[in-house]
Amino acid sequence: MYTNLSVFVAFVLLHGPPAQGFLQKRLDNGLAKTPPMGWNSYNHYSCQPNQSIIRSNAKALADFGLADLGYHYVTTDCGWTTPDRTADGALTWNTTLFPDGFPATGQYIHSLGLGFGVYSDAGVQMCATPSNSNQTGSLYHEMTDADTFSSWGADLLKYDNCYSSADHGYPDADYAPTSSPENRYETMKAALNDTGRPILYQICEWGLDFPSAWAPPLGNTWRITNDIIPAWRTIYRMINQAVPSASYAGPDHWPDLDMLEVGNDVFTLPEEQTHFSLWAIMKSPLVIGAALNDTVMTINPDSLAVLSNKDAISYNQDNLGVSANITRRWSEAGLDTWSGPLSGNRTVVAFVNWNNNTVQATLDLPDVGLQSAGYVKDVWNNYTAYGVQTSYENSIPAHGTLLLELGDTKPSGYYTVDKCGRREG
Ligand code: GAL
Repeated sequence: MYTNLSVFVAFVLLHGPPAQGFLQKRLDNGLAKTPPMGWNSYNHYSCQPNQSIIRSNAKALADFGLADLGYHYVTTDCGWTTPDRTADGALTWNTTLFPDGFPATGQYIHSLGLGFGVYSDAGVQMCATPSNSNQTGSLYHEMTDADTFSSWGADLLKYDNCYSSADHGYPDADYAPTSSPENRYETMKAALNDTGRPILYQICEWGLDFPSAWAPPLGNTWRITNDIIPAWRTIYRMINQAVPSASYAGPDHWPDLDMLEVGNDVFTLPEEQTHFSLWAIMKSPLVIGAALNDTVMTINPDSLAVLSNKDAISYNQDNLGVSANITRRWSEAGLDTWSGPLSGNRTVVAFVNWNNNTVQATLDLPDVGLQSAGYVKDVWNNYTAYGVQTSYENSIPAHGTLLLELGDTKPSGYYTVDKCGRREG
């Protein structure tokens, strides 16, 4: 594999040792052994964060028991900075929005036992709404900015892709760039490494140039799609886009399906369960994008229960670290099965009803590689069936999902002798 020792040593110094079990080199830095979990300001607050919003949501993560369930990083997305750098060339915060200082917000987050996430951009400006608000980006300033983030105690960097295409005059978004984003993301990766501070690195370049092919050695996570939007159609668009990337998931390197819309009052409860089930079993980062608590509102209890579901979270955080993928689509019936292995010889299945009405649906166990299951835990229905042979049936509400954990299983095609005809004499 390596032509000589010096090439191997150079590779190890640059990337860390190759992760075991993969032919392609993949990140193995111990910062995201399981998919990262946390909260991010963008889906609810767009590019208008402020210190009160960030603090009250961070506190809610702790107060609502979400931190104890694994939600750890609190990330302020776009809108925190200014059009200009300081006299010595550093990024700085908007003092109107963060009057006590951005680092003080980080200290507050740390005081809650949570991780401090920061946001920048591999372009000359950051993404911002409105797009002409001109917040300076990190392109050509990577080492300076990595040092700044490190000095502020940052634990995570989400690194975006606006205003990055030099060949096209740095437009806001360039979906047909003339060169791969890879080099720009690699430069920031090297800068983060040079700080010596462990900073979880989230690559956000909207899935351009199939990042699953090049991002696993660079990022702990990489976005595989353009942004999630607050509309049901976004869920099936994104989950279908996730299919070619599923096999690239593994400890320390996870395809990112984008932040959650659970709790933003755009989906029905069954839709939120579908969204959360699929993101969980596809091993996406689970990043809450709702307002948990601020001066205006508190998240509704049903959505909080979805985000707090211990079974779904345990499938996401399972130490086997293998993503589910689609195993069968009934196009006419409007049903899918998505399934994958869990530790302890278990299987997880999301049986999804894309129809606009409730259906009575039968999961054929061979469609997920099984003949029988000692038990089937039907998570959202809070019900467990025992001794399940060949199939499992239940009703699924419109746009809902049966999230199933199957244990004590036998592979498909397996029949015990006493269940088969026996020839005698
Ligand atoms: C997009 C990114 C979103 C959010 C937004 C901020 O490029 O994909 O997650 O960060 O920018 O404007």
